[in-house]
Amino acid sequence: MAFPTHRPRRLRRTEPLRRMVRETQLSVNDLIMPLFIVPGSEMSNPISSMPGIAQLSVDRAVEECRQIRDLGIPGVILFGIPDHKDALGSDAYADDGIIQRALAALKEAVPGLLLLTDVCFCEYTDHGHCGIVKAQDVDNDATLDILAKEAVSHARAGADIVAPSDMMDGRVGVIRQALDAEGFPHVPILAYAAKFASGFYGPFREAAESTPQFGDRRSYQMDPANGNEALREVALDIEEGADMVMVKPALPYLDIIRRVRQRFDVPVAAYHVSGEYAMLKAAALNGWLDEERVMLEALTGIKRAGADLILTYYAKDAARLLGRT
Ligand code: PBG
Repeated sequence: MAFPTHRPRRLRRTEPLRRMVRETQLSVNDLIMPLFIVPGSEMSNPISSMPGIAQLSVDRAVEECRQIRDLGIPGVILFGIPDHKDALGSDAYADDGIIQRALAALKEAVPGLLLLTDVCFCEYTDHGHCGIVKAQDVDNDATLDILAKEAVSHARAGADIVAPSDMMDGRVGVIRQALDAEGFPHVPILAYAAKFASGFYGPFREAAESTPQFGDRRSYQMDPANGNEALREVALDIEEGADMVMVKPALPYLDIIRRVRQRFDVPVAAYHVSGEYAMLKAAALNGWLDEERVMLEALTGIKRAGADLILTYYAKDAARLLGRT
C-alpha cells in the first residue's frame, strides 16, 4: 500500500496543516540563558568570539535578567569571573565571591527568575583547571570537598538550582549530602553528567578566562568517541541524587541526548555551547546562513532528539522569535 494511496505531501500543503501535525514544539519554557558575571559596575565587555554576548557586571546583569524574565525565559545560569584567581579557586566559595554577590542582587531585583549556578573551579583557579591540582593532574577526592563548599555557598546566596560541571567522580553525592546537611534539601542538582572534552568550548574559555594553563581536560571530561560511557556517567549521577542530567555539547552529541532520554526518566538538559553559537553567528554575519532559521532549526533538533531543556546563548533571540509565531 504505497504510492499513490499514500502521499505524505498531503499533510504538508499548507501552514495550518503543517502546524496541526508538527511533532516538536520548541517553547520559551525550554530555554536557559547563560550569563558571565564580572566585578565592577557598568561593565559590559563584549566577547569577540561570541558576537552579541558580553561579560556583565552585577548591575548590568540585573538589567539583562529583567529583560530575560520579561521575555518569559524561566532561568539563567551564572558563570563568575573573579578579580582574583588562586590555586584553590577560593573566590568560588567565598561569601562575598562574585557569584554570591550576583545571586543576592538578582534574587532581590528579579524575583521569579530561576537562578542556576555552574559549580566548577576553572574560572576561579590560576591554573585554569576544574579542581585542586596535584602532580599536574586534578586530584579528584580533594576537589570534592571544595565543590561541596561551593555548592552550599551558592545555595546560601540564593541559587535555585546548582549545576556541577567539573566531571569529578562522586561529586553529585557529596554535593547532595552537603546541601541536605546545611539546610538546602529542596535545592535541585542539574548534573553536567555527560560532558565531553570538546573543542567547542573555545569561545567560552575566552568569555570565562578559564583556559587551562597547562595540559587539557581530557583526564576528567569524556572522550568524544564514547556513547556507552555517557550512559554509565548518567546512571551514576542519578544514583548519587541528580534531579536532572545534562549532555554537553548538543549538536555533535544528539545521539547521546536520544539515548539518555530513552534510558532514564529524569529531565534531560542539553547545552548548546559557545562554539556552536559562534559557528552559526560567524556564518550569519557573513551572510552565508539565515540566522533566525538555523537557530530555530538547531534548537528544534536538540529538542526533537530528546532534550527537555536547552541552555543556549540564543535564548533571548529564540524567545523573541517564538513570541512572534
Ligand atoms: C566549566 C564549564 C565550561 C562550559 C560550561 N561550564 C567550560 C569547560 O569545560 O572548559 C562551556 C560552555 C560553553 O562552551 O558554552 N565550568
